[in-house]
Amino acid sequence: MPERTPYVAANWKMHKTVAEAGEFVDALLPRIAATQSDVVICAPFTALSAVVERRYGTAVKVAAQNMHEEASGAFTGEVSAAMLVELDVEAVVLGHSERRQLFGETDGELARKVPAALDAGLEPILCVGESEEARDGGQTEAVLERQLQADLADVPGEALAGIVIAYEPIWAIGTGRTATSEQAQEACAYIRDLLRERGGAAEEVRILYGGSVKPANAAELLGQPDIDGALVGGASLDPAEFAEIVNAA
Ligand code: PGA
Repeated sequence: MPERTPYVAANWKMHKTVAEAGEFVDALLPRIAATQSDVVICAPFTALSAVVERRYGTAVKVAAQNMHEEASGAFTGEVSAAMLVELDVEAVVLGHSERRQLFGETDGELARKVPAALDAGLEPILCVGESEEARDGGQTEAVLERQLQADLADVPGEALAGIVIAYEPIWAIGTGRTATSEQAQEACAYIRDLLRERGGAAEEVRILYGGSVKPANAAELLGQPDIDGALVGGASLDPAEFAEIVNAA
């Protein structure tokens, strides 16, 4: 089985001005100097350049939190993959549950966004996950299967290795209610099984867990065989806390 490099991403959501982003990176870098993991900062559009400039010469990668699937056009308020690449951004979060729920992002759009990101040379961090209702109704696997099938419909098997999947149960996001390590492992293993069925490089794909990851629970979650990293929201806003999670990986 190939060794998968751990992947720990900070999803700042709509937090941090340029000045705050700069202070964060300056405080983070010395704390994670020894890490062998991929460390990714998913910053708001306005702070991307500030993070990119400060991380040159380090292992930190920079991701946007969304993009439009078209290369250009009359799409007021949107940003294309090429615009991100021009800033030396390397990755993009797609399909976060907040975008699906609050901004109406559909699986149809994601089926176009994922290949558009790959074509532009961006690493998609594709988020999937079930609602509390779906979990209670025994529909977790059905939801994951439906989302992955739809969102990766136009991605050939051999391109899968360039994608990162984040399993984020909606009921665990920002709620303080973390999935147990068994629940998270079970879902991530199921996602890997689905990728295997697509004949892709399933063993190479990094699968992250997201949802109330904290320094106190990171080591146990990241110690699971199919969990290769974390997508961290609230606990990524503080450099010391985020560094602890990185160093637990
Ligand atoms: P949380 O957010 O860590 O605050 O639960 C995770 C996410 O939404 O990516």
